[in-house]
Amino acid sequence: MSIYIGIIGLGTVGSGTVKILFENQKLIQKRLGCPLLVKKIAVRDPNLPRLVEVPETLLTTDVESIFRDPEIKIVVELIGGLEPARTFILKAIEAGKHVVTANKAVLAEFGKEIFRAAREKGVDIAFEAAVGGGVPIIKTLKESLVGNRIKALTGIVNGTCNYILTRMTEEGLSFAEALKEAQEAGFAEADPSLDIDGLDAAHKLALLTTLAYGTEITLEDIYVEGIREIEPLDLSFARELGFVTKLLAICKDTEEGLEARVHPALIPEAHVLASVRMAYNAFYIKGDAVGDVLLYGLGAGQMPTGSAVVSDIVDLARNVLSGASLRVPPLSFQLSDLQRLPLKPMEEVVSRYYFRFAAVDRPGVLSKIAGILGENEISIAAVIQKGREIGGSVPIVMLTHEAREKAVRRALSAIDELRIVTAPTKILRIEEG
Ligand code: HSE
Repeated sequence: MSIYIGIIGLGTVGSGTVKILFENQKLIQKRLGCPLLVKKIAVRDPNLPRLVEVPETLLTTDVESIFRDPEIKIVVELIGGLEPARTFILKAIEAGKHVVTANKAVLAEFGKEIFRAAREKGVDIAFEAAVGGGVPIIKTLKESLVGNRIKALTGIVNGTCNYILTRMTEEGLSFAEALKEAQEAGFAEADPSLDIDGLDAAHKLALLTTLAYGTEITLEDIYVEGIREIEPLDLSFARELGFVTKLLAICKDTEEGLEARVHPALIPEAHVLASVRMAYNAFYIKGDAVGDVLLYGLGAGQMPTGSAVVSDIVDLARNVLSGASLRVPPLSFQLSDLQRLPLKPMEEVVSRYYFRFAAVDRPGVLSKIAGILGENEISIAAVIQKGREIGGSVPIVMLTHEAREKAVRRALSAIDELRIVTAPTKILRIEEG
């Protein structure tokens, strides 16, 4: 017996997947117990240059022929985007095929519909490559940590942002220069605003929060702030104060409720995520039984993402061979046990903060600012004022003790109204983990 698969899309991830399936065919066969064969690959234009050599006979422009082929048991959707990816996934399910996808956007937007359809049809759906590229975070949450309550998951989940912040911090590049490099390196989304405005990270966090807590979550539930506004000055102040700046995706079970948020944050240099540089991703999970777990690796790219796709294909092929579909629920929880848990509003989140005020350099300025912070119960942990006036103002950097976001917003809007303050205050949260 052989297991036949059909692939839709032969771009970067498709090529990586096919390369691994071809080059490691014998090894995979030894692990699976039978040959795993690509029967068809649907592409828009068979004449385009490819990153992998594929026998022409495998290529087709007729995607429907994959759904119609009774020998194909697993369909692998690798075209990305919302449509026609959603339609192709639903058609594959309708045709009784198991589905592998790398498409975080389609799952974040249409997951409910897709997972219900798969359940009703009795087919499996797997998406390891949708989060963290080659890093096995999905399987870790669904299977390895199944006995744990997840207390917190903090991730560096967007390689483009991590690359940009690393280059800005270490080499003093401007945001635009660092973004250009990231795009040239090929891991940025086709529309890089998805990366830098935090939406790619939010798509991933939506999936991770559901897997960790069994809550149905939509993108609108997640507080999202990207890295567009970060200035090299703040990165260098942060460094002087012993912190590195990262775009974090955080879900956390607190006494006051569940949090899910994406924003840049200062983390201490000794934090386990501080050494995650360039395009690398990492996931720092706290389980009630296991304690701390750290996963690290490449979150994008042809071969790492292909590695995750192949892992899903082999998983589903094993299910086919043993006739044991629906063994592991795709979202970790039984669909009937998914709830819509309320998320804590961002205003209620408690954090330490970094502020950079732009103020005139005059006696009494600091006491005025400190007074407003005090009135709002915000306690100052450290203050530095560097250099003298540039362009009419001087940067004053403050670190606070824990404060509630609501109080911080109230205080900063009063401070920014002061005549002695010459530009909106820069604010970054501090995550100590
Ligand atoms: N654009 C994403 C990143 C890669 O930069 O991490 C795919 O998820």
